[in-house]
Amino acid sequence: MSDPAATPRAEPAPPGVMVIFGAHGDLTKRKLFPALYYLARDGLLDPRFTLLGVDHVDSDTDAYRAYLDETMAEFLGDALSADRWAALRERVHYLRGDFLQDESFRELAQRLAEITDVEEIPDDYLFYMATPPRFFGEIALRLGQAGLAREADGRWRRLVVEKPFGSDLQSARALNATLHEAFDESQIYRIDHYLGKETVQNILMYRLANSTVEPIWNHRYIDHVQITVAETVGVENRAGYYEHAGALRDMVPNHLLALLSIVAMEPANALDGEAIRDEQAKVLNSVRPLEPEEVLTQAVRGQYGPGHLADGTPVPGYREEPGVAPDSNTETYVAMKLMIDSWRWACVPFYLRTGKRMRGRYTEIAVQFKHAPNMMFKDSLVRRANIPPNVLILRIQPDEGIGMCFNAKVPNPMPQLSQVEMDFNYADYFGQAPTTGYETLIYDCLCGDPTLFKRADVIEAGWSLVEPVLDVWRALPPRNFPNYPAGGWGPQEAERLVHADGRGWRKCAHAKKR
Ligand code: BG6
Repeated sequence: MSDPAATPRAEPAPPGVMVIFGAHGDLTKRKLFPALYYLARDGLLDPRFTLLGVDHVDSDTDAYRAYLDETMAEFLGDALSADRWAALRERVHYLRGDFLQDESFRELAQRLAEITDVEEIPDDYLFYMATPPRFFGEIALRLGQAGLAREADGRWRRLVVEKPFGSDLQSARALNATLHEAFDESQIYRIDHYLGKETVQNILMYRLANSTVEPIWNHRYIDHVQITVAETVGVENRAGYYEHAGALRDMVPNHLLALLSIVAMEPANALDGEAIRDEQAKVLNSVRPLEPEEVLTQAVRGQYGPGHLADGTPVPGYREEPGVAPDSNTETYVAMKLMIDSWRWACVPFYLRTGKRMRGRYTEIAVQFKHAPNMMFKDSLVRRANIPPNVLILRIQPDEGIGMCFNAKVPNPMPQLSQVEMDFNYADYFGQAPTTGYETLIYDCLCGDPTLFKRADVIEAGWSLVEPVLDVWRALPPRNFPNYPAGGWGPQEAERLVHADGRGWRKCAHAKKR
């Protein structure tokens, strides 16, 4: 077995200035600064890396650093070392600015020139839009007008766009067009934080670096695939956004389809951003869009009512959550069946489901193999036991790992089988370093590696697939909401979706603790 500690370490990212629009926002304090801290701790930021926070809050560099002292203590707790934070803190600056005022962008250009001059660092800029989505296009255009998007003399200028990227196909296309007015596609990094998760990145490695896996990764051996993203949290304090988004827009065109594309894509001819994203676009374009009448039978929506968490705590229904309309028809659960029109996946359904206030928090991909022929066992007890199929479980979170369910002989004079699970747990092999999932993404942006970011065509392919569902659901409001209790496994209709094909949803469970 190779020694994980002997793995070669990555080099620090090249120096540059990272500009965060939305410096006082939630994402910045919860994810971006903790991720930068972990990168600095691990020696993955150049010592000259500099950060400029921009926001409308009336503040200055000293006050902003003091604000960060508090947020870092809050979000990193014991993981924060005062010395390490002090070194990064020194590299942080603040500029008060209005995202809709041209003047703010002239000041930004001036401030960036001063910083790069004083710090003697190259004028390479990473612009990170951690703002509400209505500002994405406005900021990009103003960066362009201020001359900050232009790459000349070997300098780089990159733009990071957070989710949500549009609210349907039309708005996503319009946003792409606006961004392209100022930035070239090669400069745009669209984030899907699922792609930053180690275990998601591992899916491709697992598939392609193990010679026993890829030969059976097709319709000859695989019966179907289930992709589950179950959350125990409710809408939290995000009703303002969620009431308009709903589970379909919030999770499917981005996270669930990102998982599907990695499981289903063809191998790329190199570990290269364009080659990999070409394959992801191809597989999403081969998913058969649902016809309007198919939406009625192959897509299910749900909304949680009052219920209990797994520990018995009572929780309110979605319509009773703060900021939610008492007659809201927003869905908090979606299940869908999708088919991929390719040789590899002919007749292999992909069942997707995601919901809030579910029984447990599980993100996993279950690949169920076809039944083994059982003529040898036909007259034995085994036949009566109805040999269960093998299932490969890629556990994304929590308990990151890979499990394989297979059948083993029960120690007994009688020929009897029982399903057992072989289990690989990430933490056992590689330890458990605290991360936010954003470290890799920020590091890759600074290094200019676009592999884990969504290209314009991949974004549009995702929206094209949910568009028919959005249309039908808009035209036919639900009549039975709420239709599942908080703390349950979703609506009955979702069970029927898979039962209609003679299948059942996998009962997710945490990996066995040793
Ligand atoms: C976000 C969604 O993109 O992903 C949230 O807007 C959801 O509604 C979150 O809770 C889930 O992310 P994770 O990393 O906790 O699985």
